[in-house]
Amino acid sequence: MRIGLMTGGGDAPGLNGIIESASRTLIGNGHTVLGILDGFDGVFTGRTREIKWSDILGIHCDAGTFLGTSSKTKVAGRGPEFQAQFAKLNLDGLIAAGGDGTFIGLQKIAPNLPIVGVPKTIDNDVPGTEITFGYDTACTVVADAVDALRKTADAHRRVMVVETMGRTAGWIALGGGLASYADAILLPERPFNREGLKQFLTRRRTEGLRGMVIVVSEAAKGAGEDAVYSEAAGAIHTVRFGGVGERLARWIEQNTAWEARHVVLGHLQRSREPTTTDRFLTASMGIKAAQLAMEKKWGTAVTYRGGRVVEAPLTDIQGPPRLIDPDHRWVKHCQSLGIFI
Ligand code: F6P
Repeated sequence: MRIGLMTGGGDAPGLNGIIESASRTLIGNGHTVLGILDGFDGVFTGRTREIKWSDILGIHCDAGTFLGTSSKTKVAGRGPEFQAQFAKLNLDGLIAAGGDGTFIGLQKIAPNLPIVGVPKTIDNDVPGTEITFGYDTACTVVADAVDALRKTADAHRRVMVVETMGRTAGWIALGGGLASYADAILLPERPFNREGLKQFLTRRRTEGLRGMVIVVSEAAKGAGEDAVYSEAAGAIHTVRFGGVGERLARWIEQNTAWEARHVVLGHLQRSREPTTTDRFLTASMGIKAAQLAMEKKWGTAVTYRGGRVVEAPLTDIQGPPRLIDPDHRWVKHCQSLGIFI
């Protein structure tokens, strides 16, 4: 068979692991793998490259994506054009690693494409799977940052506010913040009470804490407030979150005795080489995707459920973001540790 391989949307650590493991499995079984360059863009413009065994050996430990990606290609109303271009590639099927934008986009423009989907995002918010690759690496970046910032917070008797990615889901802030025992974790799913936060910060200062670190997810907000965002016209996601960390640091200085600074981790969360956990996950998921393609099980997705990589209907990963249950057990763990959440 001749199988296409595409990575779409924002990059996530582990994309190269999917490329290497799926390609090794397919090529090892005598199939041809055609890499589509820069996501949907490569289909529209016919830019591809055949992946040879020697091209991809060892790329599993690199960040980024060997094939390039794009989160800006406009797909609305371009279904017939996409399908005609796809037909020209002469493929038996496509393995696509992407996030909600990629799969919802494909659902709209090419609902009957022979496709195997592999959910990807550092945000960990794709429905139908308990974990997405890239998430563990993003949490590691957050936890490393909190550990480091605690030192300067203590040195200066300050509060350091760390803003994380995640869009409407707070998984990165929760996972990274819990792993590093941050003093407070603010999530979009649990709008925070400003008076409660003020009292918490004041109490900890009175108790003699030298410094504190707060992890705030980019779409977190106070109760009854709107998240901080700007419009991103033309992008797949027209709302771009960001700025809550700076505002919170200013608010802390105005409302408590603490001095405060903020750090935005931004794209550093997507740029680190994948952790061992993410490498293991992408090895398993890439192999599974290749197996599904070889069995011509189109319209399926590779998901992680109950500790195993398993197939599921593609539609399972095409819904709205998977948000944190406000009473999730990790929230309870935070409460047990005395973390403000
Ligand atoms: O979806 C992943 C993500 O990293 C979000 O957490 C973040 O808001 C967004 O992508 C930023 O993407 P970009 O700057 O590449 O548009």
